[in-house]
Amino acid sequence: MAEAMKGLHRSHRCAELGIQDTGKEVTLMGWVQKQRNAGGIIFVDLRDRSGLIQVVFEESDCGGEHFARAEKLRSEFVIAVVGTVEKRAGAVNASLSTGEIEVRAGQMRILSEAQTPPFPIETGSKTREDLRLQYRYLDLRRPDLQRNIILRSSIAASIRTFMTQEGFLEIETPILGKSTPEGARDYLVPSRVHPGCFYGLPQSPQLFKQLLMCSGFDRYYQIAKCFRDEDLRADRQPEFTQLDMELSFVDVEDVIEINERLLQYVCREAVGLEVQLPIPRMTWREAMERFGSDKPDTRFGMELVNVSDLVKNCGFGVFTSALEAGGSVRGINAKGQSGMARKKIDALVDFAKGYGAKGLAYLSIQQDGSYKSSFAKFMTQEELDTLAGGMDGEPGDLLFFAADKNNIVYSVLGALRLELGEQMGLIDHDRFDFLWVTEFPLFEWSEEENRFVAVHHPFTMMMEEDLQYLDSDPGRVRAKAYDIVLNGVELGGGSVRIHQNEIQEKMFEILGFTKEDAHNRFGFLLDAFRYGVPPHAGLAYGLDRLVMLLVKADSIREVMAFPKVKDASCLLTGAPDTVDQIQLTELHLLADEQASQEV
Ligand code: AMO
Ligand code: AMP
Repeated sequence: MAEAMKGLHRSHRCAELGIQDTGKEVTLMGWVQKQRNAGGIIFVDLRDRSGLIQVVFEESDCGGEHFARAEKLRSEFVIAVVGTVEKRAGAVNASLSTGEIEVRAGQMRILSEAQTPPFPIETGSKTREDLRLQYRYLDLRRPDLQRNIILRSSIAASIRTFMTQEGFLEIETPILGKSTPEGARDYLVPSRVHPGCFYGLPQSPQLFKQLLMCSGFDRYYQIAKCFRDEDLRADRQPEFTQLDMELSFVDVEDVIEINERLLQYVCREAVGLEVQLPIPRMTWREAMERFGSDKPDTRFGMELVNVSDLVKNCGFGVFTSALEAGGSVRGINAKGQSGMARKKIDALVDFAKGYGAKGLAYLSIQQDGSYKSSFAKFMTQEELDTLAGGMDGEPGDLLFFAADKNNIVYSVLGALRLELGEQMGLIDHDRFDFLWVTEFPLFEWSEEENRFVAVHHPFTMMMEEDLQYLDSDPGRVRAKAYDIVLNGVELGGGSVRIHQNEIQEKMFEILGFTKEDAHNRFGFLLDAFRYGVPPHAGLAYGLDRLVMLLVKADSIREVMAFPKVKDASCLLTGAPDTVDQIQLTELHLLADEQASQEV
């Protein structure tokens, strides 16, 4: 077989060339986007990761042999072309960066032939995602995915530059670790040499980065793979990447300060976006009360209003009974939507029920000031006027109310607000609204487990002023935890850590671990703290989410080279898959025959 690359050296990428290169002899390599035979002259759009360029073949320039080869070319053939850059003889193509030029081919070699791909390789594919993922290597040839993956690489590079400049050390932590079930479910790896024992894949490098602080490295970072066996969503994958960091001798303000500069640097360097500092901040309580969410999208208003006081004595039992049970009644005002069709309102009621609402009450203010409502009959005119007034309601507005326990009211109205904001076109998709959310609660009560669980994680320090409630009223204790939110997406989160063993042990106790349990699982951390531990704090970003938002993709699957689908499988390789009996035997495992047949 001929040596494919003999005598050939690529001189440029296709779209690196411009009018200033006219007259240069170049050697290009790439994929045929399209071949057009105009009779005696053949045009080929040649593509590589930089973009497209037009190559022209005429028999008088390249001779019969090369011209005959050019006649054979079809989409996705891989070729090498040696030719001369010229000003385009035909019309300039303004949609191409190389639209003013073309390459007049002298020689051409076919490096690889190609079958017809199962879908066209083009921007903005309409192809079904499962087919795209099955042929991901072809999908990744499409210019929009190429751009995402290239930008992801630039973002990672600018992160490394900034972190290095700031004195952070990049240190790798193990993938084969100890399973510490708290948070999501772990992925487990069976041990061959320790029958019946398993490694857990890291949900994050949390414990190791704290140990690195004990070891004195004082500023650590890592672009780390993390694994969480949880249900997939547009912004969740079982295997994802964090930009993870930890710092010694710092408090909340120090972490926020350095991360603001990091975000500013990365956004500027990688995508030319100017982030204004300081980034606004909001406490968790304020975020919940105003937006019904701990990750508010602040690109539009439509804030929640607490109308509990206005309706506490009204005649509508749904409202008063929610208040009597310790809940609240809150509303949002969909400005100018009073004409919304009944069918659409019903769909919003169903939408609200999906978030745990028992119902969704509405009050539509007609142009003449009268009301149309699902509950007007239970209230006097005066009560309705007061309620509408409290919601800043004007003729033409449509008000929605939820009455329930606070957490349900927040989740229902928080979700409804986003839905309406999208439907009403209130969201400016060119805006990037960063926001710090601070003072998260340390614990939340889990009905399922009938115990307190950590909102962030069990290593998070409480605010000093709330230490006094640790025993008497744990639900009231606020954490030294912070999240960074971008356009309503939780981009990252972190906290100041507990570095005193007494407090850490107390924390485990409140979380319902027995002393023995805590020592079995986290004894190594408690031991490490006995040998001199600096106060420390850190944060981790979802790198996939950062890239997704910066490239304006709808899903993190669009910024990961090889993502998994909803059922956590890989359509390209077929993982996960059954394995040979001999592998199972070596690992001391018995497959559940029935379960694997059901798959
Ligand atoms: P946390 O659990 O908040 O914190 O995770 C940090 C960030 O990681 C991203 N993320 C995910 N991205 C994609 N798919 C997932 N399944 C997924 N889960 C999380 C989110 C999230 O904000 N060790 C702590 C950090 C710390 O305290 O320093 C941690 O992991 O963007
Ligand atoms: P009902 O009396 O149950 O028919 O409810 C009257 C109206 O109140 C309907 O529009 C319901 O959707 C609404 N509704 C019921 N429960 C709630 C609730 N918890 N919060 C807000 N509205 C509700």
